[in-house]
Amino acid sequence: MRITDTSDLWWKNAVLYCLDVETFLDSDADGQGDFQGLSQRVDYLADLGVTCLWLMPFYPSPGVDDGYDISDFYAVDPDLGTFGDFVEFIRMARDRGMRVIIDLVVNHTSDQHPWFQSARASRDSPYRDWYVWADEPPADGPQGVTFPDKEVSLWQYDEVAGQYYLHRFYRSQPDLNVANPKVRDEIAKIILFWAALGVSGFRVDAVPFLIETLPSDKSQIPDPHEFLRHLRSLLNRRTGEAILLGEVNLTHEDQRKFFASPEGGGQELTMQFDFIGMQALYLAMARQDASPLIRAIADRPPISVENQWATFVRNHDELTLDKLTLGEREEVFRAFGPKPEMQLYGRGLRRRIPTMLKGDMQRIRMVYSLLLSLPGTPVLFYGEEIGMGENLAEDGRLAVRTPMQWTPEPGGGFTTADPAAIVRPFPKGAWSPKRVNVADQRDDPDSLYSFVRQLIRFYRECPELGWGTFSALESPDAAVFAHRSDWEDRSVIALHNLSPRAVTVTLTLDGVTKRTKLHDVLRPGITPVDAKGAFTIELDGYGYRWLRHQPDGTLPI
Ligand code: GLC
Repeated sequence: MRITDTSDLWWKNAVLYCLDVETFLDSDADGQGDFQGLSQRVDYLADLGVTCLWLMPFYPSPGVDDGYDISDFYAVDPDLGTFGDFVEFIRMARDRGMRVIIDLVVNHTSDQHPWFQSARASRDSPYRDWYVWADEPPADGPQGVTFPDKEVSLWQYDEVAGQYYLHRFYRSQPDLNVANPKVRDEIAKIILFWAALGVSGFRVDAVPFLIETLPSDKSQIPDPHEFLRHLRSLLNRRTGEAILLGEVNLTHEDQRKFFASPEGGGQELTMQFDFIGMQALYLAMARQDASPLIRAIADRPPISVENQWATFVRNHDELTLDKLTLGEREEVFRAFGPKPEMQLYGRGLRRRIPTMLKGDMQRIRMVYSLLLSLPGTPVLFYGEEIGMGENLAEDGRLAVRTPMQWTPEPGGGFTTADPAAIVRPFPKGAWSPKRVNVADQRDDPDSLYSFVRQLIRFYRECPELGWGTFSALESPDAAVFAHRSDWEDRSVIALHNLSPRAVTVTLTLDGVTKRTKLHDVLRPGITPVDAKGAFTIELDGYGYRWLRHQPDGTLPI
């Protein structure tokens, strides 16, 4: 393995940035972001250092689920732009060295989609079998409502159709029937269509639900994972570089089969979000005890060199804590979102990090240092780089989807439209554009923006992090998360103090047989290591250090 290999499997040490075109930059003063606006900010994103943009859905949609309810998979929402604007944006991003992946939401359609309209109208419709129908909700069917604030059942009786249909999400999002080969063909066609327009892959929405079939479908599709393998190999043939980054919020053990077939042969998803690691990180922060995070990362199943974990501390949904026990969840709620309006569905938080951490800049920086040093590929949610807060006055998950804050003006530099016309109101007070914006931070070397930008640069310059093998270092202080990532004959060691107390810890690096030195990555500094591998580090409250260990006489990569 050589440094030049890092350009082959580009996703192994990419930095992803998720944004919604609708809330990024408004170029035509209608209060909504659009592709022309986004294109104007491509240089900003390139300068931040992110290497891949993930666009949330931008397709025509009635907007019941903020665009995750799609009524045409082969179009751009006219409010956001044209195909021309889309392709120009892709070309611009590529020109600045960034790839673009897009949300692929094919577990369901909007109920306004012409396929569903046709399907419900008649049992003879060619689209009837594109959805999942039943005269009565089957007892052995799927269980568990995703949005318990609005839904009580996964089955909705449709008067026009005279049957129930399955919907994993809102009732206005009927599930597609992947047991039907025509549906599978259509999904492949959608993927290849967008790949032909230049995208470098997909963030695949709700993968376990997408490939879920009813027990009665077994004869039609004995192994639904075969479908994922098929999509993977199709993409490989058409565009070798395209990734499938899956939303698979299951246990680590269950995630394993979404990477590769049990026999280890065919590949499925290229990457998966580490929901377990994310939840453990919050529990560890709440307890100021690193052990839940150490356990979670160590517990990741082994993956092949082509696969990768996507790490994150915030995304566009509720910050789900669904895999914690009720008691653990309560601990996190108490620490980071004690009021009912800060919580959602009883399982998650609808706040952003800076508000959860009460604006404590040192602690906020520690979290991003931790995120960027974890083994995997980090995914940022727009606005994290400047420490944007949320607007709890907005409904549900929309609280964290407020427009990007570019300048201190009332329109936040996002739009010149009348404030009443803005797609979603900004947070007020301490988190308003006046107080938190790109313009104030971009040229300030001490700002969060400058810090995150630097972290991104260091992450990119340390391929050990994206490519390496994780192991935890034993720390005498439970609050210190100490780990190393080994790649080739090099390592990066990262230390994070989850507590507000200053600590001094002595740690041991296995495998060191003579005196050597560790070089600080985030600032100048050298730490001696004795012949037994022991070294001592001081950390401020919520302090962090990245240290590099490399063979004597070599230069850093
Ligand atoms: C995924 C998305 C979420 C959306 C849902 C239905 O969980 O992350 O935002 O509401 O799928 O598409």
